Amino acid sequence: MRKIVLVYSGGLDTSVCIPLMREEYGYDHVITVTVDVGQPAEDIRLAAERAQKLGTEHYTIDAKEMFVRHFCWGAVRANGDYQGYPISTSIARPLIALKAVQKARELGANAFGHGCTGKGNDQFRIEYILRTLMPDAEIVAPMREGRLLPDGRREPWTRSEEIDYANAHGLDIPQSHSKIWSIDENIWGRSIEGGRLEETDYAPPEEIFLWTKGFDSCPDTPTEISIGFDNGSPVSINGTNLEPLELVTQLNKIAGDNGVGRIDIMEDRMLGLKVRENYECPGAVTLVTAHRALEALIGTQSELKFKGLVDREWGELAYKGLWFDPLKENLEAFINTMQTRVTGTVNLRLYRGSIQVIGRSSPYSLYNADLASFDSKTFNQSESLGIVKTHGMQSRMYFEIKRDELRRLGRSEGELLRLEGDTSDA
Ligand code: ARG
Repeated sequence: MRKIVLVYSGGLDTSVCIPLMREEYGYDHVITVTVDVGQPAEDIRLAAERAQKLGTEHYTIDAKEMFVRHFCWGAVRANGDYQGYPISTSIARPLIALKAVQKARELGANAFGHGCTGKGNDQFRIEYILRTLMPDAEIVAPMREGRLLPDGRREPWTRSEEIDYANAHGLDIPQSHSKIWSIDENIWGRSIEGGRLEETDYAPPEEIFLWTKGFDSCPDTPTEISIGFDNGSPVSINGTNLEPLELVTQLNKIAGDNGVGRIDIMEDRMLGLKVRENYECPGAVTLVTAHRALEALIGTQSELKFKGLVDREWGELAYKGLWFDPLKENLEAFINTMQTRVTGTVNLRLYRGSIQVIGRSSPYSLYNADLASFDSKTFNQSESLGIVKTHGMQSRMYFEIKRDELRRLGRSEGELLRLEGDTSDA
C-alpha cells in the first residue's frame, strides 16, 4: 500500500487531487487531512462529506486554539503586516502543514499531496514546512503539474475540466455551479479575490463581505471598547479576561459590526505577480492598532524606530512562510524582550468603518505628564539652548558650501531652497 497524506480543504482543486493520486500518481491509500483554523464550519463539513464519497481515510483536526495562541498572537506582537494588511492566510499555512506532518508520522506515510497551483504563495509556504520537517518525503502537486493529455503533454486544468473529472469520479459538483470569488478564510481574516475583482478599478461589491458591515448599515453611535494586553498578547475586552479564541471571535463581531477592517489592495505575490486582494479582518485590525498604540506608550524613541524595521522583516518572512528561519528567530528574540513591557490597556472608538485610538495606559509607560506639560518647572527649558545650537551642525555646514558655490555662479539662494520664483538672496 502506498500511502499519501493530502492537505485537503474540500474545495474543487483538492478534491480532484484525490482520484488523481490513485490514477496518476500510484497512491492507493489516500489520507485526507483538513485542518480547522476557523474556516466556515460548512467547508469543514463539506470536506468530510466529499472525502467520504471519494473513499479516503479522512481526518478533521481542530487547530483553532493553537492557531490563535501561537500564530495570531505572534502576529500581534510583531504587528504582523504585509503591504498594508494583517497577514492571515500566510500564518495559517505553516500550522496546516505541521498538522499534516504529524498525521503522516502517526500513520507511517512518507508522501504529501497538496492542491496549490504554480502561481501562488501557498506552494512555497506548505512545501517549506513539509521539506523542513520531513526532508525525505515525496511531494506531489497535481494542480501545479497540470492535466495529462493523451499525447503525454500537460496543460493547466480549467475549471470545467476539473468539474467533469470530479463528476466522473462520483463527486457531483453541478456544472452550473459557477464560483465567482476565490476565498480563503481563517479566524484571523478573510481574503477575497477573482471574478470582477480582477478589474483593478472595480469597486468591491457588498456581497463579498461577510464579517463587516458597510458603513451605511453600521450603528448610528460609536462603540467604545478597551483591549487589555499582557506581555504583548491580548488578554481582555472591556476588562473581561478571555481565552484567545474567544477574544478574537468576540472582537471580529464587535469591530465587524462597526465596519472596521475592510482593506482593498494590490499585493505583490512572491513570484512577482501583482494581485488585487480584498480583505476583511476586523479583529486583527483592531488588535494590531491597539497593540501599536501601547508600544508607542512604553517604547523608547529608538526602540520604536527599530521595532518598525523588525516588524517589517518579520512580516515578510511570515508572508513567505519561512516559519523556522533563523532571522525570524532572532527578530523574535528582540520582539519578545520588548513585549515584556507591552502590558496595559488601550481604548478605542469604532465608528462606521473607522478605528480611533482614544486612550492608553501601562505600568511601563514612558510618558511623564509633568515633563511634557507646558507650565512645568521640572524641565528647565533654558538648558535646551546648548542642544539646539548644535542641532543639525553637519547639515548647516553642507548648506554653507552650497551657498558659496551658488554665489560664485551668481545665482540666488532661493534656488537652493527650491522656491520657484524667489529671486531674493537672504
Ligand atoms: N494573497 C494572500 C496570501 O498569499 C491571500 C491569498 C488567499 N487566497 C484566496 N483565494 N483568496 O497570503
